[in-house]
Amino acid sequence: MNWLNNAWYVAGFQHELDGDNVVARRFLGIPVVMMRHSDGRIAALEDKCPHRLIPLSAGRRIGDELQCGYHGMRFSINGTCTLAPGQTHIPSTACLKAFPLENKHGLLWIWLGDASHADVDLIPDIRWNDHPEWTPSRGYHHVKADFRLAVDNLMDLGHESWVHLRTIGQGEEECIPSYPVKVTIQGEGLLSAHREMPNIDAPPFFSMVLNHSGRINRWQTAISLAPSICMTDFGVYPVGTSPDDAYRTHVLHLLTPETENSTHYFWSVARNRRLDNENLTEEICKAVIQTFDEDAAVLELQQKQVEQYGGSVPKVALKVDEAPIRTRRLLEALIKRENEDQGFIYRPALMIEDTTPKLEMT
Ligand SMILES: [Fe+2]
Repeated sequence: MNWLNNAWYVAGFQHELDGDNVVARRFLGIPVVMMRHSDGRIAALEDKCPHRLIPLSAGRRIGDELQCGYHGMRFSINGTCTLAPGQTHIPSTACLKAFPLENKHGLLWIWLGDASHADVDLIPDIRWNDHPEWTPSRGYHHVKADFRLAVDNLMDLGHESWVHLRTIGQGEEECIPSYPVKVTIQGEGLLSAHREMPNIDAPPFFSMVLNHSGRINRWQTAISLAPSICMTDFGVYPVGTSPDDAYRTHVLHLLTPETENSTHYFWSVARNRRLDNENLTEEICKAVIQTFDEDAAVLELQQKQVEQYGGSVPKVALKVDEAPIRTRRLLEALIKRENEDQGFIYRPALMIEDTTPKLEMT
C-alpha cells in the first residue's frame, strides 16, 4: 500500500496510557507499543525485539522499561537497550526504533514517516473532542476493511437511508440522496459535502437527542481531511424554530490504517446541548455503537468482495459518489507529491468551524 507517511495519525485516546498501561497496535502495517513514563513522557516504540523479533508487548513492563519475554532484554523509553542478560556488552544494534508521539485534544498522535519533519503544529485541529463547550461520547471500532472504504462511506451519507434506518436514516420516501449535495474543496487536503433536508420526519436518533418527535429541519456536512480523518457535522432543529438554536454535533471519525485491509476507527461524538446530561452521553454512545456496527458490517462485506473480484470501487459512479471520489483523488495527489518531491510536507488545512446554514430552512 502507498501510504501518506509524513502525517500525524491518531494512535488512541490519551487516557489509554494512564498508569502502567502498555498499549500495542499496528499502524500502517508497523507494530508499535506505547506507554507513559513515570515522569509523564509518552513513547511509541517498534514492537519487535531486535534480537528474535518477539513483540515487547508480549513481555512485561518493569518500572519505566519494557522487558522482552523471551531472553529478558530490557529497553528504555527511548528505545535503548539497558540490559542483555548474561553479558556486559550490549551490541550497538540492540535498540528499538522510536516514533514521535504527542498528546493533543485528548488524543495520542503518532508520526510514522521521517521523524525530522514531525512538527506538532501539523496536528489537525479537532478541538471538539476535548473542549468545555462540547461534550463527547467516545468509542472505538476495529474494522476489517481498507480505511479508504471507510472514508468512502463517511463521505457518502446517502447510505444512511438503507444502512441506518433504526438510528439516523430517513426512509425511502424522504431518502437522503434525493436532497442535493454541494461538494467543495475547502483547503489543503480538506473537502466538504453539504446537504440540507428541510421539514422531514425525525429519524429515531434525532427524536431522542431533541426530545421531540415532530417534523425537523436537518443539515449534514461530511468533511474529509487527508489522509484519514473525517467529520460529520450535523444540526437538527424542530420546524418553526431557528437554526441558531439547533442541536449540533461534530462526529469525529479518526481512522488510522492498521494494515492494508484493516482500520482503527476511534470516534468521538461531541454535542453542543445538554452538556452535563451523563445519561444522554451514554445513550448517544449506545446509538453510535449500533450505527457504526452497521457500517462495519457493510465495509467488511465490501472488503471481501473487493478482494475476491479485484479492482477499485465504485464500478459504476452515482451522484452520491462525487465526494468519495474527489476525496480519494486529493489523497492520491498528496501521496504522489510526497513520493516525487523530497521537500514536500503536507500541511493540513484547518477544519471547518461552523456549517450552520446561512439561510433559514422552512
Ligand atoms: Fe454509516
